[in-house]
Amino acid sequence: MTVLRRALLALAVLTLVGAAALWHLNFNDGVDVSASAPPGTDAATVQRGAYLARVGNCLACHTARGGVAAAGGRAIATPFGTVYTSNLTPDADTGIGHWSAAAFWRALHHGRSADGRLLNPVFPYTHTTLLTRADSDALFAYFSSLPPQRQHVAAHELRWPYGTQAALAVWRALYFRPGGLAADAAASDSVKRGAYLVQGVAHCSACHARRDALGGADWRDLSGGPIPGLGWYAPSLVAPHEAGVGDWPDAEIARLLQSGASRLGVASGPMAEVVFQGTQYLTAADLADVAAYLKALPPHDAPRTALPAPPARTRLATAGEKLYGQKCAACHGEQGEGVPGAYPPLAGNRAVTLSHTQNLLQVMLHGGFGPATATRPRPFGMPPFILELNDAEIASVLSHIRTAWGNRAPEVSPLDVLQMRQASSTGLR
Ligand code: HEC
Ligand code: HEC
Ligand code: HEC
Repeated sequence: MTVLRRALLALAVLTLVGAAALWHLNFNDGVDVSASAPPGTDAATVQRGAYLARVGNCLACHTARGGVAAAGGRAIATPFGTVYTSNLTPDADTGIGHWSAAAFWRALHHGRSADGRLLNPVFPYTHTTLLTRADSDALFAYFSSLPPQRQHVAAHELRWPYGTQAALAVWRALYFRPGGLAADAAASDSVKRGAYLVQGVAHCSACHARRDALGGADWRDLSGGPIPGLGWYAPSLVAPHEAGVGDWPDAEIARLLQSGASRLGVASGPMAEVVFQGTQYLTAADLADVAAYLKALPPHDAPRTALPAPPARTRLATAGEKLYGQKCAACHGEQGEGVPGAYPPLAGNRAVTLSHTQNLLQVMLHGGFGPATATRPRPFGMPPFILELNDAEIASVLSHIRTAWGNRAPEVSPLDVLQMRQASSTGLR
């Protein structure tokens, strides 16, 4: 044999071994999807499924804007293309009407469809893999109880090769282990339940983990990162100066997740959506467990004992002070103190001093509302300033609020504003 032949043979063997390993990892889950022991369909089970479907954002993601609940078709933009959510109503042809409870469980636990296809991880099965079989069955019972809706869902529009089964197999080998995020065995029952809700059902790290270029992450990570394709930054849940709640009273954490506003700020953008669609429905007991888990997370950065020296205020920030008085103070107060229950304070607000400025720019350019919730049914709105103020004016008013009233953060430059304006106009928001 020539050297070349030997090398080719070695390569062929390696490829086969690699393929076999990938196959084993991805397709050898041993779930018999024909197993058709029907799950309990009593009212209590269906109701528990309905609760999980809200808190887990299943309903929100699987419902198109203005569409029939759970009938799918919602488009989700990713850096790799657009993905459409599946029809989860029990229609026999276009939904899950022919599915067994075992097939549903396999989708949640192994990320495979009833026909065996590997699913796209925009469906957060990286997290639903943690769900118990009983909860999966309750969800199945709930979706099966809905009126069947015949609706074909558009095919995904992913750039090659991202939508192929081979690419998904490789991605999964890198980033997915069925049942892979087990909680700390030594934790209290409350912290364990909180971990199950945060890491599994509500999949908070789908946004709050730092993702790499392939959209993968260590799913236990909650240390924050930019949300791919959205133009928002999900702040760290383990850093006290970002969105860590380690030193918050339980009631304040519950208030944020239930009403959408805490004493210190308002949930905005994608987080407003999470509160609106999901966390506002958490029961008091589950809220307490979520708070217990979030508080038990080890902080990643040392609490700051001494704040950095106040930054020198440049002309940019000083010019912003006047604009602030004209455009913002009527709502947010002369001293950034806000109005309880109506307008969030800007003094001491972590959203204002985050080192990542994209959230601030999003709110400033496009305005927004906090989530409408049972406790705050008609939240006040923040007007958009995209047409009213130019880049230099926006930079100066933001630089002012980041350096006034004890806030200590670097200024925002007109270039930052321009970049966000351009990103918004190309649809990346
Ligand atoms: C972030 C949006 C999102 C959330 C949240 C979400 N899903 Fe999905 N889901 C998707 C997408 C997108 C697909 C399609 C994946 C594919 O076709 O590869 C999908 C597919 C599925 C499938 C497989 C359907 C099929 O035809 O193969 C099931 C079952 C499912 N989701 C159930 C759930 C449940 C239960 C929840 C809540 C615990 C949930 N999903 C939460 C986006 C989401
Ligand atoms: C009409 C009242 C009103 C005016 C005027 C107004 N805001 Fe707001 N602002 C709000 C409300 C209500 C919210 C909460 C809703 C949200 O975050 O989407 C908010 C949110 C914010 C936030 C986000 C706070 C957080 O906790 O996430 C910032 C930053 C902000 N405003 C800055 C400004 C600046 C700077 C100006 C002036 C250029 C301004 N606002 C003018 C009402 C107002
Ligand atoms: C769809 C993406 C997404 C998901 C899922 C998500 N978050 Fe967020 N979260 C964000 C973004 C973006 C922000 C920053 C905007 C803001 O301050 O509201 C944020 C902010 C926060 C804050 C700080 C809010 C403040 O006012 O101090 C907390 C706390 C938080 N998230 C907790 C959670 C928890 C707990 C979960 C799971 C139940 C979760 N998030 C799920 C995107 C998300």
